Amino acid sequence: MNKKHFRNRLLLLTLASCVGAGSLVGCSDQQTAEENTEVTATTDKNQMEIKQEPFGKTKEGEETTLYTLTNEQGMQVQITNYGATITSVLTPDREGKMADVVLGFDSLAGYQSPEYIKSGPYFGAIVGRYGNRIAKGKFTIDGQEYKLATNNGENHLHGGVKGYDKVVWEAEPVSGENAIRFKYVSPDGEEGYPGTLTSTVTYTLTNDNEIKIDYEATTDKATPVNLTNHSYFNLAAGEEKDALGHVLTLNADKYTVVDEALIPTGEQRNVKGTVMDFTTPQAIGARVKQVEGGGYDHNYVLSESGDGFKKAATVYEPTSGRVMEVLTTEPGIQFYSGNFLDGTITGAGGSKYEKHYGFALETQHFPDSPNQPEFPSTILEPGDTYKSTTVYKFSTRNEQ
Ligand code: GLA
Repeated sequence: MNKKHFRNRLLLLTLASCVGAGSLVGCSDQQTAEENTEVTATTDKNQMEIKQEPFGKTKEGEETTLYTLTNEQGMQVQITNYGATITSVLTPDREGKMADVVLGFDSLAGYQSPEYIKSGPYFGAIVGRYGNRIAKGKFTIDGQEYKLATNNGENHLHGGVKGYDKVVWEAEPVSGENAIRFKYVSPDGEEGYPGTLTSTVTYTLTNDNEIKIDYEATTDKATPVNLTNHSYFNLAAGEEKDALGHVLTLNADKYTVVDEALIPTGEQRNVKGTVMDFTTPQAIGARVKQVEGGGYDHNYVLSESGDGFKKAATVYEPTSGRVMEVLTTEPGIQFYSGNFLDGTITGAGGSKYEKHYGFALETQHFPDSPNQPEFPSTILEPGDTYKSTTVYKFSTRNEQ
C-alpha cells in the first residue's frame, strides 16, 4: 500500500469518528456528509474511537500526527507517528480516577528539545533496528563484517544515531480492530545495517485494558532485528516523585551478566539470593542502591522457553492500586530503573523526571546477540518474517 492510500484510509476513520463523537478537530459538515455512506460499510464501534490531530513539525519539516485510541472502559492511548511513540496512557486507579501512567510529552517539541536529545531516554518509542547494545557496533554475517553507527561510547545502542525512534512512520488503521499500524522501510545500509528492512508495528487497545503490540519485519539481506517499545511507566501517575515503591515480579530465574559498558559477558547467572531476584514480588527501590552502575539496567532471561506467549512481569503500585502485567513471545526483558533520568526533563503535566521517576520493561532478544553465539539468534533471513508480540495489561487491586 502506498503512502497516499495509508493516509486516505486514516482520513476515512477520522471522519467516522467525527460522525460518532463529534469531538474532532477539522471535521466539516460537507466531509461528514460525503463520507457517511462509505463509512457505514466499514464502520464498527471500535474504529469510531480513533482520532487524529497534528502533533508538530520535525526539524526536517515533516508534519507529525497524534493518534488517540479509546476503549469501552474509557482507557486511552496516544501514539504519534514520530518514532511510533506512545506519548500517553490513561488508566484508572482503584477509585476509577484516570491518570497518565507513562513518561512523555504532549507535543513533538518535547521529543526534539536539546535536553531530550542530550539525555536520550527513548520515552515510549519503538527502538530498532536493534533494541539494546551491539558491542563496538560490529558483527559478522556469512563471513562479512558490518560496522554500525556507534552512539553509546564505542558501542551501538537502540539502532544508532538516527534509529527508528527518530523517524516518521507511515500510519494506517486496522480494519475491524481498535488498532493502528505503523510502517517504516529502512534502506539498505542505514546506520550501517545490511538490507532493506520493512517493519510494521501494530498497536491495539482492547476492551480488557490491554495494549497489544505486534511487530513484523521482512528483509532482502540477512540482518539483525530486535524491535521493542521503550515506554517508561509510573503507575502512581505523578503522585509520587519516583517509581521506587512499585512492586515488581519477573518471571526470570536468570539474567545476562554485563560489563561496565552494559555489554553481556556471555554468562547467564542465576538470580537466587541476589539483589537481581524478582521471582517473588519486591519493591523496585528495596535493593536498587546495591546494584552496580546506579540501578537496574539488565536483560532478564524469561523462564519459559520456546516461542510461546508467556507472562514476563507484573508490577503493582500500592497507593493507586494500579497493576500492569507484561506478556510476550520474546525470550528476554530489559528491566531499566530509569537510572539516567536526572531532572533535566520536564514532561507532560509538568512532572520533573528525576532519577528512577519511571522504569522500562523492554521485551526483547538478548543484548549483543549478533556477537554471542550462545544467545537465541536475532538474524532475519530474506524470505522469513520476524514476528513478535507483547501485551501490557492494566488493572487494579484493592489491598493497600
Ligand atoms: C535502555 C538501556 C539503558 C539506557 C536507556 C535509555 O534501557 O539499556 O542503558 O540507554 O535505554 O536511556
